Amino acid sequence: MRVIEVKDYREMSERAAAHILDYVNGMKSCTLGLATGGTPIGTYRSLVEAYRNKKVSFHHVYTVNLDEYVGLSAAHPNSYRFYMQENLFNHIDIPSEHTHIPNGMAADLAEECRRYEELIERLGGVDLQLLGIGINGHIGFNEPGTSFSSRTHLVKLTESTRSANARFFSNPEEVPTHAITMGIETIMRSREILLLAGGIKKAEILYKLFTEPVDEQIPASILQTHPNVTIIADSEALSRVKEKKVFIV
Ligand code: PGA
Repeated sequence: MRVIEVKDYREMSERAAAHILDYVNGMKSCTLGLATGGTPIGTYRSLVEAYRNKKVSFHHVYTVNLDEYVGLSAAHPNSYRFYMQENLFNHIDIPSEHTHIPNGMAADLAEECRRYEELIERLGGVDLQLLGIGINGHIGFNEPGTSFSSRTHLVKLTESTRSANARFFSNPEEVPTHAITMGIETIMRSREILLLAGGIKKAEILYKLFTEPVDEQIPASILQTHPNVTIIADSEALSRVKEKKVFIV
């Protein structure tokens, strides 16, 4: 895992966007794995700005998002489809049929998970996967204890994740209890992974990521075994790692 330390959220977002832009500009066609949550919003803002300044086109880009809440429609302001439209897709030239997010309203959720996994295969797999990290170490909505060999599946969200995400909802009780997420193996099959972490809330989990053994209780720990991971983290998120003088390469 390569680590790039940046000073703050703004620099994290700019570095991440620059990395994605280089990638997209260097490929005839590519599939990006995208994430939601507070972390990548600034990255998407920078990508939109680059598009407006004619530094990039997304016409040849396909996207697959990590996850979606069960029971929220695309029109619901807290659905991840809505988030992606608002923060990125509505503002760039990506063809709408190139953008994919699990359908949390599907009548048959198990079938939807199979469909999504097959779709990723049909697209040739994910080239570059953008990831955030939960304070409990989740990636996507793969909560602690998820099998490392999981593919896209239905999950019951932990109370820790529901309360971390409650800030986006007007009433914490509205946070859905279930979601569809790419599995850990789905994520690990990406050719390259870019993980972003910002703020003091992420200091403890980043410390564990660098110091604890690979264990299903810390889903992100599997990233230690992926051949091409870059972590862009700000000084606060890296503060505990640095305080403990953990040696990172
Ligand atoms: P956040 O969430 O970006 O809102 O901190 C990260 C995650 O849960 O993966």
